[in-house]
Amino acid sequence: MAMWLPRLFVALCLASGLSPGFSFGQAAPARAQDRIRVVTTTTDLRSLTEAVGGDLIDAVSLVPANFDAEEYQPKPQDVLRLKNARLVVRVGLDYDLWFDRLLEAAAMRELGRGGPGYVDASLGIAPLEVRGVAIGPGDGHAHGSGNPHYWLDPKNAEFITASILAGLARIDPANAMTYEANRQAFVARLAAKLAEWETRLAPLRSMPLIAYHNSWPYFARRFRLDFADFLEIKSGVPPTPSHLAGIIQTMRTRGVRIVVREPHEPERDLAFVAVKTGASVAVLAASVGALPDTGDYLSLFETNLGQVTDDSLEKIREDLGDCQRCKLCSTRTHIVFGSGNAQARLVFVGEAPGADEDAQGLPFVGRAGQLLTKIIESISLTRQEVYICNVIKCRPPNNRFPEKDEIATCSPFLVRQLEAISPKVICCLGAAAAQTILKTKSSVGWIRGRFQDYRGAKLIVTYHPAYLLRNPDAKRVVWEDMKRIKALLDAL
Ligand code: URA
Repeated sequence: MAMWLPRLFVALCLASGLSPGFSFGQAAPARAQDRIRVVTTTTDLRSLTEAVGGDLIDAVSLVPANFDAEEYQPKPQDVLRLKNARLVVRVGLDYDLWFDRLLEAAAMRELGRGGPGYVDASLGIAPLEVRGVAIGPGDGHAHGSGNPHYWLDPKNAEFITASILAGLARIDPANAMTYEANRQAFVARLAAKLAEWETRLAPLRSMPLIAYHNSWPYFARRFRLDFADFLEIKSGVPPTPSHLAGIIQTMRTRGVRIVVREPHEPERDLAFVAVKTGASVAVLAASVGALPDTGDYLSLFETNLGQVTDDSLEKIREDLGDCQRCKLCSTRTHIVFGSGNAQARLVFVGEAPGADEDAQGLPFVGRAGQLLTKIIESISLTRQEVYICNVIKCRPPNNRFPEKDEIATCSPFLVRQLEAISPKVICCLGAAAAQTILKTKSSVGWIRGRFQDYRGAKLIVTYHPAYLLRNPDAKRVVWEDMKRIKALLDAL
């Protein structure tokens, strides 16, 4: 891209009869009254225009950051803004259709389509979700021209800024080289950030997510995320109760742990499906300025990445709340969340709290727990160094095996705990942990004793301490498994 831009610029100047009469030095900052006034439809385009224009321009955006840009109704002062502008930059792809009416009202020929001051930033973008069928009145915000949220793929900012550069060079050829240099510096910063963001989001690759509105296909494609469904039935059409029930079903079957909301979207329905499924709500900004710390294009991504990647044990505990999601809430004394080191290299996962654990709110504190302490100490570790938790957080009556619906409701919190801790090794104690985490029906005897990969960790299954209390002969194989864990931890 960088290679052909200067040539493109010269070609554009020649085609429009302008001379590329720029100076090669850095342009002096323009006085406020000399700055080129630019009007953009959205805050994202304003930020990208500022990245190219620097202090030679003064850019304003029309749609407030926290407003649905597709629903924007232009104001009389917007006409005035256009009257003072020399360049306009719009999203296109039917996203800011209202802008055509505004351009007509301003009656500025140079700013209209085909004019030197007109930039459609979607030029050169490969649109996703282009529809080959007619759009009807029931199709909500359907976009025949493709999904318009293309600025949410940071790579597309290269194209967007190229179009902005071409526009600025057309109307202000004297400063074209400065605009070009500004853009190159921005693209270089963006490339470095993009590499960092790809690494940070790698653990979420292919992980199913749910969002309220389908703003995210470009973001998802760039970072290989998988938006499994949307709360809106169609773009702009809010969910019905039966659609929400279907979403909950999808979230349970696909193990969705994150639901995405934009700050201006209604909270209630997303909170409802999150509470039902143990998922966390990540509030993401689809536009610059829509959340605190999203003041420019790069910080928009920085903040969004933090929102989807920063889960913590505290947040998971908070989301669990005074859990009433399954019937065990009526018989428990305490929720037994887990205990130990939040940065543990080794996590033990048991089945469910027993009577002692229920009474104290701590995992593995009864007889089986005392044996587990000895097992941990046998490999020169302490309970404070490891993390201990269970598949389900409430005691089943009479210590019966957890039921299917209880595991389905509670295990998303376990999965989040494992991801927040990100241990090197996970040791499943008994069948409930092994079968839940590995999604298998195999017995402990069949799968124990060898490491398997689990989301970047090594997972090993061994017998539950309660089983050892009943079958002391099995202690020998558990000891073998512990030696394997120690050897692996020592080697890592
Ligand atoms: N058994 C388990 O599986 N977990 C506990 O916390 C205690 C006993």
